[in-house]
Amino acid sequence: MKVMMFIIVVLGVFLLTGVPCLVMAKSMAGGGLVLSDIDPTAQKKCQYGKIHSKYRVICYDLNYDEFPQTLRKDIEILYFTRNRVTELTNSTLEKFTDLSYISFQDNFITKIDTGAFESQKKNIQVIDLYRNAITKFPMNVFEYPELTTVSLGRNKLTDESLNHSILSRIVDLDISQNELLTKLPTTMSMPNLKYLNVSLNKIIKITPADLAHFCSIKLLDIDRNPLSLNACECTAIKEWINTHDITLIPKNLKCDKCTTSSKLLISNETYTIYNKCKDMTSRPYDWTTFCLITSGIVIILAVILFYIYKKKSTKKGNNTKINKELVLSTNGATTELLNNGIKSHPDDP
Ligand SMILES: *[C@@H]1O[C@H](CO)[C@@H](O)[C@H](O)[C@H]1NC(C)=O
Ligand SMILES: *[C@@H]1O[C@H](CO)[C@@H](O)[C@H](O)[C@H]1NC(C)=O
Ligand SMILES: *[C@@H]1O[C@H](CO)[C@@H](O)[C@H](O)[C@H]1NC(C)=O
Ligand SMILES: *[C@@H]1O[C@H](CO)[C@@H](O)[C@H](O)[C@H]1NC(C)=O
Repeated sequence: MKVMMFIIVVLGVFLLTGVPCLVMAKSMAGGGLVLSDIDPTAQKKCQYGKIHSKYRVICYDLNYDEFPQTLRKDIEILYFTRNRVTELTNSTLEKFTDLSYISFQDNFITKIDTGAFESQKKNIQVIDLYRNAITKFPMNVFEYPELTTVSLGRNKLTDESLNHSILSRIVDLDISQNELLTKLPTTMSMPNLKYLNVSLNKIIKITPADLAHFCSIKLLDIDRNPLSLNACECTAIKEWINTHDITLIPKNLKCDKCTTSSKLLISNETYTIYNKCKDMTSRPYDWTTFCLITSGIVIILAVILFYIYKKKSTKKGNNTKINKELVLSTNGATTELLNNGIKSHPDDP
């Protein structure tokens, strides 16, 4: 019976606190926006819809050469794929302040103003500008707090256009097929970056020190670059990706035999770079742990209160027993007094 009570209390408390907290945590986990292809069905005008309870508009292949300011202002997800827009100015998206996902894939954009995404600064998570003609991207945008994914693949970026020291929290960066990039963008601090696509560029060398700048990286696509590494440079890269659990594309990096001891292949400076990056890694606030700990504390408190309550009621029972014994063992005026006292007690028969 006691055990049953205990289980019911624990379950009840978890249902009351843990579950709502977890549900809230899930809804706060940023909607989980990712880059995705859309169904290119034939449409003559922009189509509104809802996805993950967010307002979405798809303007696919409609020959727009200017962004239509007549779209609903509360859109959150924008697919403006395959149109003819040539620039994003400060005013292009200014009134669409709720946007968290912006795709201008496959347009003719050459110019983006510094403040082009300024009014989305607080919400923006994904910016997809794949297949345009961008030579310069406003680097301040990388510092927007919720931004996780940027695609600038298939544009006209140069090493110089990415040569800025900024701190960005993005997780996924595509700068593939810019053709002019000759190195990894190591001046940008991106401690949380997991996916980096630099395929189809002109990268000749990469070193462990380059990779150490990206201390959270899981996948590096450096396919189809004119990489030229000597035996030891190649072995060093291999050593680094193996010890840091990085998937490299192309998968089978074949290195000639390097005679330098593998301990000497990676310099102390490389580790310094790596550690500096690791120090900047921010862990996204873990709501699940928070919920479990909170409901754990509440459960413990509930159990303690439950036992205090139990103890109190047993004490009350004991008192009555003692009183009864007293009644039996005494006589005269005292007995009567006690009896009166006891009789006035509601628990007594
Ligand atoms: C766009 O806005 C930024 C600030 O957000 C400002 O620095 C810049 O001068 C503006 N550009 C134009 C062309 O108005
Ligand atoms: C990057 O910028 C710095 C100055 O900010 C300059 O010294 C350096 O040469 C630049 N590197 C490239 C590859 O453009
Ligand atoms: C990297 O980009 C290239 C070209 O844009 C693409 O073909 C490739 O699938 C991308 N790699 C990954 C791992 O997504
Ligand atoms: C690198 O660090 C190791 C151990 O911390 C030390 O023994 C070695 O002398 C260092 N090498 C250089 C070149 O500083």
